[in-house]
Amino acid sequence: MSGPLTLALLALTLSSPASSRSACRFQIPPHDQVARVARFVAHRCDWASVATISTHKPVVGQPFSNVFSVSDGPHGTSTGVPYLYLTRMEVSVQDLQVNPQASMSMSLAQTDYCRQQGFDPQSPLCAHIILSGSVLEVNGTEADFAKKSLFTRHPEMIDWPTDHNWFFAKFNITQVWVLDYFGGVKTVSPDDYFQADPHRRHSSCSKHLARLLHICLTNILIREHLLYSTTQNWCFLLKTRS
Ligand SMILES: *[C@@H]1O[C@H](CO)[C@@H](O)[C@H](O)[C@H]1NC(C)=O
Ligand SMILES: *[C@@H]1O[C@H](CO)[C@@H](O)[C@H](O)[C@H]1NC(C)=O
Repeated sequence: MSGPLTLALLALTLSSPASSRSACRFQIPPHDQVARVARFVAHRCDWASVATISTHKPVVGQPFSNVFSVSDGPHGTSTGVPYLYLTRMEVSVQDLQVNPQASMSMSLAQTDYCRQQGFDPQSPLCAHIILSGSVLEVNGTEADFAKKSLFTRHPEMIDWPTDHNWFFAKFNITQVWVLDYFGGVKTVSPDDYFQADPHRRHSSCSKHLARLLHICLTNILIREHLLYSTTQNWCFLLKTRS
């Protein structure tokens, strides 16, 4: 391999240009693969809005929406089950002790995605999901997994006051509602939701990088000392000799 070519390859792999990095990291599944979109949203979000039926005056019997930190697994290990770290001192958890039924919603508006794409949070293009079900305490190995899932993504939980008697819980999903495109809400059964793969296949990411490499190499015009790409996002000006 000639000197300039080696340098160009090196530059491409080491520099990890922003465009390819984000394309590989954040690829929402196609909108018609609704179950995969739902799993993608559930894995990307670190918190959720949870609505309970209130037991507190003056709104007894009315919906009561609150914010909770969630995790469906450490980054890259999605289970689809939103885990929670709760204390019975908490207002909504007191509702759940009377009636565990709840609704949880998560949106890509909670990530950079919608702002970057110019999608309003209420637009269906800014994919969001609503889960119906109930909040159940978990024990044993499932609690161990919940702890790992939550504490890796919410490290400050480790230091939350022990006298609050924290316990681990999961949102037990009975129905998934997805808004990810025009035409109204779509529903996904728990079975389809749990079977779906939230991640893009790796090949799609390597294909993307291979395409970038090809574009770079075909754009490297050799003036004697410079490697120059017309698509400067991806390759950049590189001086090979002074
Ligand atoms: C988990 O353990 C707690 C306390 O040991 C117990 O009260 C609760 O019923 C258990 N929950 C399940 C789902 O087994
Ligand atoms: C948990 O969800 C499943 C469906 O995924 C449902 O069949 C089951 O009844 C739920 N359990 C409770 C205790 O609500």
